Amino acid sequence: MKGKFITFEGPEGSGKTSVIKAVLEVLKQNNIDTIVSREPGGVRISESIREIILDVDNKEMDARTEALLYAASRRQHIVEVVLPALTANKHVICDRFVDSSLAYQGFGRDLGLDEIFNLNLFAIDTCLPDLTIFIDVPPEIGLNRVFSNGRTVDRLDLETIDFHQKVYQGYQQLIQKYPERIKVIDGTKPLEKVIEEALSLIRDII
Ligand code: TMP
Repeated sequence: MKGKFITFEGPEGSGKTSVIKAVLEVLKQNNIDTIVSREPGGVRISESIREIILDVDNKEMDARTEALLYAASRRQHIVEVVLPALTANKHVICDRFVDSSLAYQGFGRDLGLDEIFNLNLFAIDTCLPDLTIFIDVPPEIGLNRVFSNGRTVDRLDLETIDFHQKVYQGYQQLIQKYPERIKVIDGTKPLEKVIEEALSLIRDII
């Protein structure tokens, strides 16, 4: 048997990190062997790439360079974390995965969905999530949360509202395209409710 690969997606400030933390707590209490990781990052090399991508001083970064760096970070993380865990029959919950590249680079940066998908195929090979949970929060609400909750603001957060709107529209298209895999939760509901709904979706597949 193989573990399940579950990813969380959403715009900035969707609250997915808090939801993942709470979900992991419950799964652990139920002795469900699960690991949590994040993208970009999760392992040393990928965390170094993350620093380069998100550094607010890297203003001159080209959009294709950005897309390649996310894919490179993804590859290393898959090889070191995701595949070994799934093979060892652990479930993997990842904070962002390839849908982020499709939405942010494909739509937000206008690089094109097919181009970014093809670029990422080299990184992911056949590794696609069994379930993707999209925490739906309109970009204005999410960005307000980011700027008011004191978390460190990164290069992507500082993009224009137009960029974040395009990312959001991109996610909506992905939801239409992959209805079997991507499930949506209204992220403007109270956190407890969002956690409960996420757990219910996860229980359905594990
Ligand atoms: P985080 O704030 O959820 O940790 O994600 C870091 C930022 O990187 C966030 O603005 C989304 C962005 N991102 C992409 O643009 N493409 C990707 O492939 C990934 C994984 C994240």
